[in-house]
Amino acid sequence: MFLDLLEPRPGVIPLACAAPDTPPAELTECYAAILPELAATTSDIGYYPTGHPRLRHAIAEYYRERGVPTSFDQVLVTTGGQQALSLLARAFLQPGDRVLMEAPSSPPGLEVFRAEAAAIHTLSPGMPEFAAAARDHRPALAYAIPTFHNPTGAVLPPLARRRLAEAAAAAGVTLIEDEVLAELGFPGFRTPPPLAAHSDAVITVGSLSKTVWGGLRIGWMRAAAPTIARLARIRAVHDLGGDVPAQLAAAELMPRLAAVCARLAPERQARHDHLRAELARLLPEWHAPAVPGGQTLWVRLPYGDGTSFAQAALRHGVAILPGSGLDPTGGSEDHVRIHYLHPTDTLTEAARRLAEAWRSYRPPARAVPSPPALAV
Ligand SMILES: Cc1ncc(COP(=O)(O)O)c(C=O)c1O
Repeated sequence: MFLDLLEPRPGVIPLACAAPDTPPAELTECYAAILPELAATTSDIGYYPTGHPRLRHAIAEYYRERGVPTSFDQVLVTTGGQQALSLLARAFLQPGDRVLMEAPSSPPGLEVFRAEAAAIHTLSPGMPEFAAAARDHRPALAYAIPTFHNPTGAVLPPLARRRLAEAAAAAGVTLIEDEVLAELGFPGFRTPPPLAAHSDAVITVGSLSKTVWGGLRIGWMRAAAPTIARLARIRAVHDLGGDVPAQLAAAELMPRLAAVCARLAPERQARHDHLRAELARLLPEWHAPAVPGGQTLWVRLPYGDGTSFAQAALRHGVAILPGSGLDPTGGSEDHVRIHYLHPTDTLTEAARRLAEAWRSYRPPARAVPSPPALAV
């Protein structure tokens, strides 16, 4: 399932794994800009388990601009946001420890906690019940996606953000805030400051995978300096550090990130609007609410279950994600996640195939449980 989704078969329109499929021109420009420096490199063995200092400084500056004082020793550069999450799970969890997370939630988060044999307790998106759940379950860790929650696309309002961060601090629970999707707002949307602006109990995870390109494999975490030092030791055991040319290019790119996001946002919104319009036209009984940004629609089917329908859709040449694979409780069976990142003519064809699949779809008598969706 994992590799099938990440590397779909020819002829299938991949609407399951959500990430940009074209590196922006700015990335190639940044690689070109660092080549002379790379060619002139001497006296540098190139191993940076905490990340190249230039990129750590650039990421620290990015947080300062978002209103969160950050020094470079509060930043660990990782191989994508995924490695940041894996390292955090490894550092904070013993088998059987409890983790609070939202249901539904993102496959990358879900899988790292499962891999550490954590006992997952679920809360609604935005975690309004955090304080009581922390009291009842005494979790070792909590994980939330407050901006463009994956898969619902919801954005936690300012007051709820403050409450969540303060509740984590009051309970003494480390809260991981996943901001991998946070810079994907449509035009006019202002990404709120991270939850870390409200409390030191929050560790923020970020990445360039969705704003720039997943193939770059640049992610990071922002935390207290002693936590970063501890995580860097664990990271060194994994891979001794990331690709230095990619980090230098990313350091060039960070000051331009807001401009790259602003340039790409109108197209992303146009694709979102187009897919919703096509689904409304061809599948009016589906419920596909608009989102203010991110990459995906969280679609409720009027009957049947997402797993068996995703199989029917695949037979008609479209890969989508069944909702229950994104839900730690196995719930959300009546949902599917569909991304809208393709050009509009591809989305038109995808909607046509989905409508064809839906016409021939006969749901099984009982909902089919979905295997965990190892997807992005
Ligand atoms: C919410 C969320 N967190 C983390 C990741 C992993 O990010 P990366 O590709 O940077 O490893 C993803 C990828 O889809 C994601 O959606």
